[in-house]
Amino acid sequence: MASEFWNVLVTGGAGYIGSHTVLELLQADIQVVVIDNLSNAHKDSNSEKPECLLRIEKLTNKNITFINCDITNINDLRSVFQKYTFHCVIHLAALKAVGESCQKPLEYYKVNVAGTVNLLEIMLENNVKRFIYSSSATVYGVPEKLPLIENMKTGNCTNPYGKTKFMVEEILKDLCISDKEFSVISLRYFNPVGAHPSGQIGENPNGVPNNLMPYIAQVSVGKRDVLYVYGDDYDTPDGTGVRDYIHIMDLAVGHVKAMIYQKTDNPTGFKPINLGTGKGYSVLEVIHAFEKASGKNIPYKIVERRPGDISVSYADASIAKKELGWVATKNMDVMCVDTWKWQQNNPNGYKH
Ligand SMILES: NC(=O)c1ccc[n+]([C@@H]2O[C@H](COP(=O)([O-])OP(=O)(O)OC[C@H]3O[C@@H](n4cnc5c(N)ncnc54)[C@H](O)[C@@H]3O)[C@@H](O)[C@H]2O)c1
Repeated sequence: MASEFWNVLVTGGAGYIGSHTVLELLQADIQVVVIDNLSNAHKDSNSEKPECLLRIEKLTNKNITFINCDITNINDLRSVFQKYTFHCVIHLAALKAVGESCQKPLEYYKVNVAGTVNLLEIMLENNVKRFIYSSSATVYGVPEKLPLIENMKTGNCTNPYGKTKFMVEEILKDLCISDKEFSVISLRYFNPVGAHPSGQIGENPNGVPNNLMPYIAQVSVGKRDVLYVYGDDYDTPDGTGVRDYIHIMDLAVGHVKAMIYQKTDNPTGFKPINLGTGKGYSVLEVIHAFEKASGKNIPYKIVERRPGDISVSYADASIAKKELGWVATKNMDVMCVDTWKWQQNNPNGYKH
């Protein structure tokens, strides 16, 4: 890998998953261009690059090309492709807050669906035909059976965010039917948590965190008083919801492996691949694991279930192992230790 030139466009590369993926790509000696409109990333006014990318440059001693570009602006996208030649696109740029997507559905369809169509159009104009997509376990809707397997039915999503992920997968399937050279790997992430073990990069939620782990982390450093646990009457061993959590570095490695697979095996067509550990943890188990990692007590309060939440979700990750040679390596204890390190070092995220 190291000797051969390979240039990858990462959209949304200043975000949580994008930043860790960029770090892993650089460490595999792959050249990276990041585009991001910084709508959910932090940049100091006196610097040209977002803070997370500056930190990655320090950690890896490598340079990242960053372009402030909004994927809803097709002309700006076109000029990026005019300037650089890409072998592959890893597409992470999106809006991702489930609750907000119910309040502002058009924004979500514009960025997540129309923005992706713009990007695909420009890729075709430039004959770039390898695409790695940030999909989600949410495309499975309410699970009929567990574990979730890639060939199960998708759709029936309960909110606009989930629908955008489903719709884009459908668009990608049609594109692959129409263009036999096109290759899509749709990585269906389960629940990414944790941070780089350096404690230098991590998740930096704006406002109230939507997900469990960053919320727990903020309670642990006293930024929030109490954690709300939505329902303890699910059909699970302790009554709280069970999810498949995956360490962000394992997820980042999954992208590099997907890219190497596209490069070496030259697959075509639409290939969905789950990235999860295959093991579920309940909300209470996550809280206790975090308490162990941090030595802090996490006060929590049981409240009503949230509409649309399902009781249990976990992946069958055997296709990732078979096709990509990928398996998750980090367990819940490591996820909590690394989240805690990041949160302790950066109580205000990337803001100094
Ligand atoms: N975090 C999760 O739990 C999770 C789970 C499944 C799938 N995903 C998907 O993974 C991807 C990355 O998620 P994340 O957690 O890193 O989110 P994030 O918000 O941290 O990263 C997304 C990045 O995209 C950028 N962006 C948003 N709109 C843009 C636009 N119009 N043009 C250019 N850039 C834009 C944001 O500034 C941000 O840096 C998303 O597609 C998300 O739907 C995330």
